[in-house]
Amino acid sequence: MKYPSLADYLNQQNTAADLQSVLLGLADTSINISKALAKGALAGVLGAAGAENVQGEDQKKLDVIANDLIKNDLATLSAVRGLASEEETAVVACNLDGKFLVTFDPLDGSSNIDINSMVGTIFSVLSSDADGPVTESEFLQAGRHQKAAGYVLYGPSAMLVISTGNGVAMFTLDPDTGTYLLTDDQINIPKETAEFSVNMSNQRHWDPAMQRYISELMAGKEGPRGKNYNMRWVAAMVADVHRILCRGGLFTYPWDARKPEQAGKLRLMYEANPMGFLVEQAGGEIWTPEGKILDIQPDNIHQRVPVILGAAEEVNTCVSYHN
Ligand code: F6P
Ligand code: MN
Repeated sequence: MKYPSLADYLNQQNTAADLQSVLLGLADTSINISKALAKGALAGVLGAAGAENVQGEDQKKLDVIANDLIKNDLATLSAVRGLASEEETAVVACNLDGKFLVTFDPLDGSSNIDINSMVGTIFSVLSSDADGPVTESEFLQAGRHQKAAGYVLYGPSAMLVISTGNGVAMFTLDPDTGTYLLTDDQINIPKETAEFSVNMSNQRHWDPAMQRYISELMAGKEGPRGKNYNMRWVAAMVADVHRILCRGGLFTYPWDARKPEQAGKLRLMYEANPMGFLVEQAGGEIWTPEGKILDIQPDNIHQRVPVILGAAEEVNTCVSYHN
């Protein structure tokens, strides 16, 4: 059996040539990131780089490497007007005549690097018809307007997962040829689930509604939900969402009373929105307690948001506890 390449798939989808150049460019860069990750300690790149990122978290050397690889490669593409990254305080101008803006988390779940566990790159592609200097305000579009979104999961195999608004496609990197080959394009999140994903150690700091929802899942067959739930937590959103796209489930990163001004931990523009685009394209839902995440009008590129995503019925049930 011959597996279609990423380029074959994009042609089949009638994806415009300029958008193809962005997606193919990100795919190529991710192969270089996966090579840097595979070298691990041998490349002398583990550990903190000594700087903090804009959210005040320790920056790992590989975060910086992944960020620079993506930034430099996107800057060479005529279709890319500007970019915003978790690792960059401000938006970065690329080619002013380009039509696309790319936001990305270069290395999601980066605390997993030091334990040789899964990490990933998350990206979102928006369009802009602005002229002149690139400004943050061009980026501040609701997730509903994304032209494409996806991630690369660096796991036992590297997998690229994308949507251009017509379903979700998963590609597996063939390390022998350095090409991503389509291995699944029938991605569908079942509406019901018996598996959830949350960092339980924070339970006492959540909103009381979320505390009650999760305790009722934990109560299992004898509790109000009347069934036993399993729990998984990889501590890399990219890997937890990948599992949900593969076998279903609910994932949440709730609001936390210790940092009420932060609204949540995950970033709207390069974590929640791109993952939300994929999840909705796979038949799932993504909400904050107040509404659908893809409808939020962002007010800054690094804004955070509480996230509830995955199996449609379970997400609706969780949201209903907050009303
Ligand atoms: O990017 C933030 C992130 O690393 C996510 O990938 C992940 O879901 C979460 O933080 C892990 O948080 P915690 O440290 O609470 O497990
Ligand atoms: Mn992240």
